[in-house]
Amino acid sequence: SGNEMWGGRFASGPDAIMEAINASIDFDKRLYEEDIAGSLAHAEMLAGVGILSGDDAAKIRQGLETIRRDIAEGRFEFRRDREDIHMNVEARLAELIGPAAGRLHTARSRNDQVAVDFRMHVRAAFRDLDRALLALIEALLDRAEEHAATVMPGFTHLQAAQPVTFGHHCLAYVEMVARDRSRVADALARLDECPLGAAALAGTGFPIDRHRTAAALGFSGPTRNSLDSVSDRDFALDFLATASICATHLSRLAEEIVIWSTPQFDFVRLSDSFSTGSSIMPQKKNPDAAELVRAKTGRINGSLVSLLTVMKGLPLSYSKDMQEDKEQVFDAIDNLALALAAITGMVRDMGVNAQKMRAAAGAGFSTATDLADFLVREAGLPFREAHHVTGRVVALAEERRVALEALPLDALKAVDERITDAVYSVLSVDASVASRTSFGGTAPDNVRAQVAFWRERLAS
Ligand code: ARG
Repeated sequence: SGNEMWGGRFASGPDAIMEAINASIDFDKRLYEEDIAGSLAHAEMLAGVGILSGDDAAKIRQGLETIRRDIAEGRFEFRRDREDIHMNVEARLAELIGPAAGRLHTARSRNDQVAVDFRMHVRAAFRDLDRALLALIEALLDRAEEHAATVMPGFTHLQAAQPVTFGHHCLAYVEMVARDRSRVADALARLDECPLGAAALAGTGFPIDRHRTAAALGFSGPTRNSLDSVSDRDFALDFLATASICATHLSRLAEEIVIWSTPQFDFVRLSDSFSTGSSIMPQKKNPDAAELVRAKTGRINGSLVSLLTVMKGLPLSYSKDMQEDKEQVFDAIDNLALALAAITGMVRDMGVNAQKMRAAAGAGFSTATDLADFLVREAGLPFREAHHVTGRVVALAEERRVALEALPLDALKAVDERITDAVYSVLSVDASVASRTSFGGTAPDNVRAQVAFWRERLAS
């Protein structure tokens, strides 16, 4: 026999393969709360404009509440032959309340139904994401404040370049994650229109009130074009794009944690709760959580490309291809949440080896730029000439295998007469970072001021 929802024109039911490729209930049951909320708002509106009797609306409401409870408590039987969440709920409603259930779908289609359900789900996911991003920012700010003056090497090409502070490094990630939050806010503003009432694609002849359902579901108003309403998955792409950029930030931090926690660097020690051992090498403590955060980025980026590719060839309006939007987004929601929780835990817990960082910061003549700046400031050399003189000093230090500040003054003067005793006050890593007071620079006082800036901004 045919499908109980749309089987009127069919002589036989679907092939088993048809059901297997078509059914989405195994994953879209995750939308049940949104689906029921959407139906409640729709029924309420239909009753309000006189399309549905008060009596039928009450029955529908009670039935939907029962279904919501049954699903929440694991008592609901999801059926593949009922295809998706929308038809599972509606078919069950018919079993519970009889013919009144059949009036719920007046002036509605699964096309606008799934569009509004999924939008609400993505809206909630954006809000959860924002909370998780905020928690990461707070963890980074705590570490930045604690280590405002902890000197470490700043790198370019992963080669020690100039000293910075660990606090400054943490604040770099605060900036990135704050931009992720602004992307969430932008996307939420765009998402804030309700597609319910677009019906299949053309709108409806029934006197529905779309402003009312939009408000009931927490949207600022209805979408303006019925074709676009059932075709648009930009909000899902916005989520995946935001998630991909965010995951990319997390992956870079994870990569740094992997590098920093090697015995060769030994800048940080991961807590036992965020590392694992080896089954053969007893001495090992591996940064698996950081590596998995790095790897999650691959699948999240993959989800973005996947949905972009699903959407790119679709003529307006709805095509069943769009059913493939959900698993990509659900997977990204779950894995980004996990990655954020793990990285936040690692940032909070990791031990910082300030001695190691400081020693590494001084290696590799990292204050050479300070020497060149000194020659510009104190002796009036053009920077290019100062750069050249400093290069010769570096070559000398390299030849003698000592740090810049270990070269005696007569050796320095032999390179250039204009170098004076005052040079030693600029060659230490502490002097170097303390001098970087330009706006956005790494000076410890700047770092403290930036931490204060962010705390104030987050409080308001
Ligand atoms: N399960 C479908 C989806 O996720 C619901 C919409 C189906 N609409 C349709 N006309 N087949 O997209």
